Amino acid sequence: MTAPGGRESASEPAPDRTARAASVQSFYGRWATLYDGLARFTPGIGRLRREAVAALRLDRGDTVVDLGCGTGANLPYLREAVGPSGTVVGVDLTRGMLDRARRLVDAAGWRNVHVVKGDATRPPVVGGDDRVTDGVEGVDGVLASFVVGMLADPASAVADWCALATPGAGTDDPGHVVLVDAALSDRPVARPVNAAFRALTVLSTPPTRKFRYDPSPHDVLRDRVHAARDALREHATATYHAEHLLGVVRVTGGRVPPHGEPS
Ligand SMILES: C[S@@+](CC[C@H](N)C(=O)[O-])C[C@H]1O[C@@H](n2cnc3c(N)ncnc32)[C@H](O)[C@@H]1O
Repeated sequence: MTAPGGRESASEPAPDRTARAASVQSFYGRWATLYDGLARFTPGIGRLRREAVAALRLDRGDTVVDLGCGTGANLPYLREAVGPSGTVVGVDLTRGMLDRARRLVDAAGWRNVHVVKGDATRPPVVGGDDRVTDGVEGVDGVLASFVVGMLADPASAVADWCALATPGAGTDDPGHVVLVDAALSDRPVARPVNAAFRALTVLSTPPTRKFRYDPSPHDVLRDRVHAARDALREHATATYHAEHLLGVVRVTGGRVPPHGEPS
């Protein structure tokens, strides 16, 4: 599902930012239950989430942030990767989505998985007075699945996420950033899949009663996903790229060099 998103960028006026956030919250708040089912039970989705988490190259004890975590569908895989001594932080704008993620965490009894309300373009994770997890010194991995298509300025957001992926003092390990997205495929053979994807994006774009948009939501989505991937290539060294469903679904990972090391 798509909805307009909320990059807090200098180029986007504050009223637009607020309206974008309100639109995301209203849309996903309304559809949280349906989304949760799709996020967990769509055939192949579990394998895709596991693949994305593997691309983060996490170790036991690491800290990982899931931006736009939604109903928490990535959290079990992230918790499994970092173990009981690591830390998982999920950030999302929408209360209804977070409520479901919290229920998941409570049911599993994970004490090291935190779910917080916040803007993925200004994640309240480390540093500053508004940080949400005491004891988090650095971030080893940043994951954003099906999120960049909702941001007005995905390139700046990804640049910030690469800066966020900085492991704590005392380690020379690099951080990793992984993006998972679905967008129109460039492959000619993907025409039927693209047609289905176009219909899905139009039907899931607020106000959901219109059939014509200008620009079309799938073109906006594709441009944003491309911009995010270009930014990841600019700010990180490519470590992983995989395409599924004839190129509609893509997983891209990058390694952010430790401070002082040339990329
Ligand atoms: C398509 S869902 C993806 C959820 C989850 N990452 C997954 O893979 O199932 C997009 C989520 O991004 C959230 N979102 C959109 N813009 C956001 C922003 N600027 N900051 C935080 N969350 C945002 C929405 O509330 C929604 O939960």
